[in-house]
Amino acid sequence: AEWELTGHQHYMYKEMLEQPEKAAAVIRGRLDDRFATARLNGLNLTPKELRAFRRVKILGCGSAYYVGQIGAQLIEDLARIPADAEAASEFRYRNPIIEPDTLYVVVSQSGETADTAFAVSEIKRKGGTVVGVVNAVGSTIAREVHGGIYLHAGPEIAVASTKALTNMAMAFGMLALHLGRLRDLSFADGERILTALKRIPDQIQAVLDDEAHIIDLAKRLAKTQNAFYIGRVRQYPVAREGAQKLKEISYVHAEAYPTSELKHGPLALIDPSMMTVAVVPDDELTDRNVGAVQQVLARGGEVIAITHASVDLQGLDVARIDVPKSEPELDPILLIIPTQLLAYHAALTLGYDIDKPRNLAKSVTVE
Ligand code: AGP
Repeated sequence: AEWELTGHQHYMYKEMLEQPEKAAAVIRGRLDDRFATARLNGLNLTPKELRAFRRVKILGCGSAYYVGQIGAQLIEDLARIPADAEAASEFRYRNPIIEPDTLYVVVSQSGETADTAFAVSEIKRKGGTVVGVVNAVGSTIAREVHGGIYLHAGPEIAVASTKALTNMAMAFGMLALHLGRLRDLSFADGERILTALKRIPDQIQAVLDDEAHIIDLAKRLAKTQNAFYIGRVRQYPVAREGAQKLKEISYVHAEAYPTSELKHGPLALIDPSMMTVAVVPDDELTDRNVGAVQQVLARGGEVIAITHASVDLQGLDVARIDVPKSEPELDPILLIIPTQLLAYHAALTLGYDIDKPRNLAKSVTVE
C-alpha cells in the first residue's frame, strides 16, 4: 500500500503529506525522557568511542548534502564538536585526509548513490569510522557502514525528495542530542531539544494546513524567471534546499545565497523581475535579516518571507509564510516545509511532470 498513490495526483504530494506521520516514526522509541537523550543503538558505537571523536564529517549528495549541513550545525550547537558537511561527489575526487578520530556520517535516502557509496569505501579503506543516515533498509550504503540511523520514512518514489529529507534532519537532531548528552550538554538543554523534537510532527502538519495561502504565493513564483533563496547560518541550507527543489521540478532558475553574501555581489541582480524567498526566523539575527529584505525591496525586488509569527516585518511590503516556532537549533526542519509546497505548486501551475522531472533520476547510481 505504501507504493500506491492512494488517490493523490503525484507521489511528491502524497509524500509531503506523509511527513507528520513519518517524522513521528523516526523518533518513535528513540527518545529517552529519563536521561533527556536519544537512544541510537544502531550506531554500534559505545559511549566511550563516541566521546573520543574530535570531529564530525558529513557526506551526501544534492539535497542530502544540504541536510547534512543542517546536521553539522546541530552537532556543533548541541555537542560542541567541530562538524562540517561536504558533497560526497566532491570528496571522492580530492584525495581527502581520513582521520581516525573523525566520525564520518554518510546521508542517503536511496542508499544507492554512487558518489556517496564510493566515499564510504574510501573512508573504510583508509581506516575511518563511517556510519549512515539512510532510508532504504538493506541498501548498498546501509550494508557497508559500521552502523547508523534508519529513517523509517517508507518508500520515496518522487524524484524530488521531501519526507526523507525531513527525517534526515530529525535523525541529525537525535544524533546531535545523543552526542551532546555524552559530552557537556546539560540535562535541561537535553530536555528542551527532546521536547521540541516530539512537537515537530504536529508542527509540520500546521505548515501543511497553510497550503491554500502558500498556493497563492507559488503562483507568483511560477511567473518569475529567476529567484533567489536567502538564509543566514542555520537557514542557509534551508535556502539551498528550497532553491534546489524549485529548480528540479519547476525549472525556474533559482539560486541560494547566504543572506550576508548578498551585498558582496548578487545584490546587483535584484530588480523587479527577481523574486527573493527570504528565510527570516525569530532568532538573534532577525534584525539583520529584516535589513537584508529591506535592501532587496529598495531595489524593486519582490519578497516572500518564510518566517515566524513573532517576527515584526516592520510594515514591509512582503508576502509572509509563518511557520510554527521550534527551538532555534531545530527551526530549519520546519522552515523547509513551505519551500516544498512552493516548488510543488509552482510546478503544478506550470504544468510539468512533477514526479519525473526532465534529466533527473531518483537515485544516481552511475558516476
Ligand atoms: C532531491 O530532491 C534530489 N533529487 C537529489 O538531490 C537527491 O537528494 C540526491 O541525489 C541524493 O540522493 P540519495 O539521498 O538517494 O543519496
